[in-house]
This record gives sequence, C-alpha cells and structure tokens, in this order.
Amino acid sequence: MRLPMRNHDICVVGAGYVGLVTGACLAEIGHRVVCVDSDPKKLKTLKKGIVPIHEPGLTEIFKRTVKNGRLSFAGSVLEGLRFKGRRAEVVFIAVGTPPRHDGSADLSAVEAVAETVAKNIDSYTVVVDKSTVPVETGDWVSKTIQRFNKSGTPYDVVSNPEFLSEGTAVRDFLKPDRVVLGVSSKRAETLMREVYAPLKAVVLVTDLKSAELIKHASNSFLAAKISYINAVANLCEKVGADVQLVARGMGLDRRIGPMFLNAGLGFGGFCFPKDLEAFYWISKQKGYDFQLLKSVQDINEHQKGWIARKIEEKLWNLEGKTVALLGLAFKPDTDDMRFAPSIDVARQLRSRGVKLRVFDPVAMPRAKKLPDFKGAHFAQDEYDAVKGADALAVVTEWPCFKDLDLKRAKRLMRTPVILDARNVFDPARARSLGFEYAGVGRP
Ligand SMILES: NC(=O)c1ccc[n+]([C@@H]2O[C@H](COP(=O)([O-])OP(=O)(O)OC[C@H]3O[C@@H](n4cnc5c(N)ncnc54)[C@H](O)[C@@H]3O)[C@@H](O)[C@H]2O)c1
Repeated sequence: MRLPMRNHDICVVGAGYVGLVTGACLAEIGHRVVCVDSDPKKLKTLKKGIVPIHEPGLTEIFKRTVKNGRLSFAGSVLEGLRFKGRRAEVVFIAVGTPPRHDGSADLSAVEAVAETVAKNIDSYTVVVDKSTVPVETGDWVSKTIQRFNKSGTPYDVVSNPEFLSEGTAVRDFLKPDRVVLGVSSKRAETLMREVYAPLKAVVLVTDLKSAELIKHASNSFLAAKISYINAVANLCEKVGADVQLVARGMGLDRRIGPMFLNAGLGFGGFCFPKDLEAFYWISKQKGYDFQLLKSVQDINEHQKGWIARKIEEKLWNLEGKTVALLGLAFKPDTDDMRFAPSIDVARQLRSRGVKLRVFDPVAMPRAKKLPDFKGAHFAQDEYDAVKGADALAVVTEWPCFKDLDLKRAKRLMRTPVILDARNVFDPARARSLGFEYAGVGRP
C-alpha cells in the first residue's frame, strides 16, 4: 500500500471495535497513531501486544504496526495528545454511544472527550467524530470545545462516520465503499483528505449535519431491508412459498441488489438496534414522526421469537426439554454479544422451562458472563451441543454449521428436530435423513 505524502500524528480515543481497527489501519497506511482507552484492563491487554477482540486480519496489522512503532497506546487523552513529545493534529472520537432508556443515544463519553481535548490543545487540531451520533452532535462538540478552549487555539470539528462491519472490519476500513467527511472548513477537509489519501477511496465531502445523517440513514435503511425480507418470509410461511427464491428474484434487480435479503432471526449487534432507535428518537425530537422505523423495529422484535414459536409447534410441551443453540454471536466472525438475538432466544426458552446446550466458535467467553445463559451447558463443539437434545436451533450462520454432519448429529440427539433460523441447511436433505425441519420462510 502506498504511504501518504504526509504522515500525520493521530490520536484515536476509544480502542473498541471501531477505534482499534481505525487506529491500527491508520498506522498501517503510514500515520503515527496513539489509541487511548479509559478501561485499564483493556489498556493492559493492548500494551501486552494482545488484541482483545476477535476480528479477522486485525492481529497481523496490530502486531506489525506496534513493532514498527506507528501504533501505540495510552490511558488518557492528555497522554494521547502529546505522545512522546509529538502533538496530535487529528483526534478521532471513537467512544461508545450506547442507548439510553428512552432510546436516545448517550453522548456523555463524546462530550467528556471533547472537553478534555479542548483543555489540552495548543495548536490547530481537527476533532473528528467517528462514533455514530445523532444529527447536530457536531455542533454540540464544537460548542463544548469553544467553552473549554480558554487559550483560543484554532480547531475544526469533522464528522467522519464509520461504516465497517464486525467480522470484515479491517477489509471494510482499508477498502471502503466511500469515506464521508462532514466538514466546516477547507483546512479541515485538506487535512482529512491527506489522512485518507492512501486508501484511494471515493471521498464524499458534505456539511456536518448531512454526514451525521448519512450514517443513521444508512444503518436504518439496511435494518429496514432485513425487516422487509423477514416480513416477506412470514407471508411465505403462510402460503408455502420459498423466501430464498423470492429474495433471489428480487436481488437480481440491480435497483434492489442481493445483499441484506437473508431472512432469519432478525438483526442484532451494537449498531442496528440502537441506531434505529436513536434515529427515530432524534427525528421525533426534531418534529418528524418517522413511523417506518417503528415498523422495522416491530418486525424485528417479532422475528426474534421465531425459534420459541416454532419449537412449541414441534415439541409440544417445553418444560424440561433440551434445546441446542448453535451460534451465539450476533453474526458470524465476531465475538460480539451486544444485543445478539441469541440472548432473546435464550430468555424466551428458559422462561418456558427449556434446558439449553449452547456452542459458538468464539463468543462463548462473552456469553458466559450474561445472566440469560446462566445454567446453560457451554459445549465443546457442535456435536457436544446436540447430545441428548430434543431440537437443535441454528442461531448464527457460522460457516462451520453449514458443514455439520447431520447423520452424526441425529445419532446424538434425543429427537431429530431442526429449527434453522438462518436457513443454512438444505431442507430436502435434512428431511431425507429423518429430521423434522423448519426454516425461516421455507416450505
Ligand atoms: N461496532 C461496530 O460495528 C460499529 C460500526 C460503525 C460505527 N460504530 C460506532 O462506533 C462507536 C464505538 O463503537 P464500538 O463498537 O467500537 O464500541 P466499544 O464499546 O467496542 O468501544 C468503545 C471504547 O471506548 C472506550 N471509552 C469510553 N469512554 C472513553 C473515554 N472517555 N476515554 C477513552 N476511552 C473511552 C471504552 O473503554 C471502549 O473500549 C459507537 O458509536 C458505534 O455506534 C460501531
């Protein structure tokens, strides 16, 4: 990869799924980066040279950039701004923006970082909001910096939303479909263009508010696509049609495209549910009742009950029965359990007296900490999970589950019932092996 014409000193605040990938990838393309995190345990892990999350390709870049000195870690924003005598010219805010009880985004961490940055800059600094935030957050960040920047040091605020997906985050960051820069000055635009120049990506420059809206509107649109196909799947189940064929037929239309048309158990994770909720909340606050978003949420909530509904149809009384859940992470290739549909499934089944045997290739250490999985048997592998089970339910479409030896699984189970909530198996084959099979929106 070509290095930038000008390398920059960059501070990334928040070393989570987004901040760590951002920091490591910016170091990979030639910048000098300090990742700051306020969690002492995470910081210790990072300083030991260990990547605390499961993200394909990240460890290699992490190790390389730490070794060549372009990626470092600090426990405070102050240290990050002045690392080893160098001044950070660009500060990325990549802290969490979790949902509050009323559905709005909790922006207190963003504010805290803005205040600390304001108090500690002494030369022109671009403060970049990378966290997902509601429209007009940039104005608040700017106001905050103005309030606490007693020295009057020049600064600019930029909105640079991140579109990476967990599981493909490194690739998404290094080969993005677009880089969105919401700016309020030419100076900030020039600096940010230099930062991203090595990616040779399409750069869309907008005003701050439009950039903020692009992120919420994009995530909500993708969530809507998922709910749409799940609603179609429900109709397919009622009339005996196959949602996979319907989705293929729809996806061949270039105006629609094939992605995000997989019917299943609904969406989860740290982004779609909270961003949808926050987008609805901010729209309403600004005077527009964005009802479509409510329907998207309602369909998703209904869909998360698919396994519990189907299992009652297949197993009659559930008290004391055993169900194997294959997959716990909210999607494959990540260990992220935040707002994973598996949590809803576990809660629904446990409340009906079902005993759980669960397996996930990487997310089990995180799942073990969650109360909804208390008492579940955390299995060694897929086959250990299905031992003695009255039904197996595919919750996350990890590629390894597609290749499950169904004959072997059947021998291990008490009754051969498959609830394929991610449509990974061939229904005809499963049935020919003697399974009772139910897939989402499939006859
Ligand atoms: N996870 C994704 O796939 C994804 C994708 C695009 C955008 N986003 C957005 O990016 C933001 C971060 O998400 P994430 O998944 O990386 O969250 P995360 O929880 O994994 O990481 C946030 C990190 O910020 C740290 N932090 C919090 N307050 C801090 C402070 N004051 N100073 C220093 N560190 C602090 C936390 O310790 C944590 O390590 C969110 O707004 C999210 O919506 C996430």
